[in-house]
Amino acid sequence: MLTLFRHCRIATCDDHSHVFDHGAVVVRDDVIEWVGEEHDLPAGLRADRTIELAGRWLTPGLIDCHTHLVFAGQRAAEFARRTSGTSYADIAREGGGILSTVRATRAASEDELVEQGRPRLRSLLAEGVTTVEIKSGYGLELQTEARMLCAARRLEAEHPVTVSTSLLAAHALPPEFEGRADEYIDTVCSDWLPELAVRVDAVDAYCEDIAFSATQCDRLFGAARALGLPVRLHTEQLSNVGGSQVAARHGALSCDHLEYATEADALALARAGTVAVMLPVAFYALAEKQLPPIDAFRRHGVPLAVASDCNPGSAPGASLLLAMNMARRLFGLTSEEVLLGVTRHAARALGLAGQRGSLVPGHGADFAAWSIDSLDELGYWAGFNPCSMAVKDGTVVLERDA
Ligand code: NIG
Ligand code: FE
Repeated sequence: MLTLFRHCRIATCDDHSHVFDHGAVVVRDDVIEWVGEEHDLPAGLRADRTIELAGRWLTPGLIDCHTHLVFAGQRAAEFARRTSGTSYADIAREGGGILSTVRATRAASEDELVEQGRPRLRSLLAEGVTTVEIKSGYGLELQTEARMLCAARRLEAEHPVTVSTSLLAAHALPPEFEGRADEYIDTVCSDWLPELAVRVDAVDAYCEDIAFSATQCDRLFGAARALGLPVRLHTEQLSNVGGSQVAARHGALSCDHLEYATEADALALARAGTVAVMLPVAFYALAEKQLPPIDAFRRHGVPLAVASDCNPGSAPGASLLLAMNMARRLFGLTSEEVLLGVTRHAARALGLAGQRGSLVPGHGADFAAWSIDSLDELGYWAGFNPCSMAVKDGTVVLERDA
């Protein structure tokens, strides 16, 4: 089946960030075959189907490369405490925070996790998102971590979306291992990783004073890589604990948060080819004051991605468009940086470079069409969604007024 998408303005988000003002895309089944100016279309092209885009902007389908969207319950009471001055770290030290969601998630069935995750996934899909990363990390025991990963796969099977899963067993220390963090990491390395390796696309961890040390993350990453799994890391969110350096040494796909990263960290990430994932919704919801070193990332050529971080604690919400707006307003990213941050660089953060995230021949035919006049409107609107169509693997999966 040959489909022609025509009469659109195209931001390819490829290595050259090509823009076509009178563009067209040819899709064979689920793969992009040709992209360019409409007047250059291959002579004699006979499409089975033509989709008229009436001058709308077409970008790659968006990629949300950092979410925790499978979880049970909510933490609105903690949010109220935080807005009246208690810190996220203090709530975590009292046994709330992540551990509060662990209690709710352990008590939930797989069906309940799917039910509760569904509206959050749908909220992202309505914004032209076609690929989503989903982490475990609210089980902290083998069966519940596995149940979260199964729920993520079921959500993928139910929806027009590619899901990339990360095992985040090293998210917080479970109460059963209190005072025995090294033993917990050893258990994850020797028992859980081999069992869950076939179900996950990557291994993640939280490197922070209130979570795991750089040395513990280093051990975990060694075990993950021995099983052939790529790694990513939450780090330098509340303080600098040396996580970026560990991540860089292991050639991590991404390092996420990074408010407290240094120039030396930026250099290490650049050398390792690691993507720096900006999570401005967490920065905002925690009322953080320390800005990530964006200029150092730019100077050293660290690829920047932007993600929602959808979770019930630090980033309650399920909007990548809001994250894009906040990345511009709070972190000073340009409209081009946020667009690449949710397309090409987000694909790279998931190890999907060359498969998704750019409109080039050979990539999966995932698009978002936008009712906007200018690309500068991406990351400009807050609380308004100008996405009017999404295409997943060559099929129109969303049409809405915008
Ligand atoms: O990305 N930083 C650690 N993990 C999550 C928050 C999880 C939670 O608070 O439930 C984050 O911000
Ligand atoms: Fe996170």
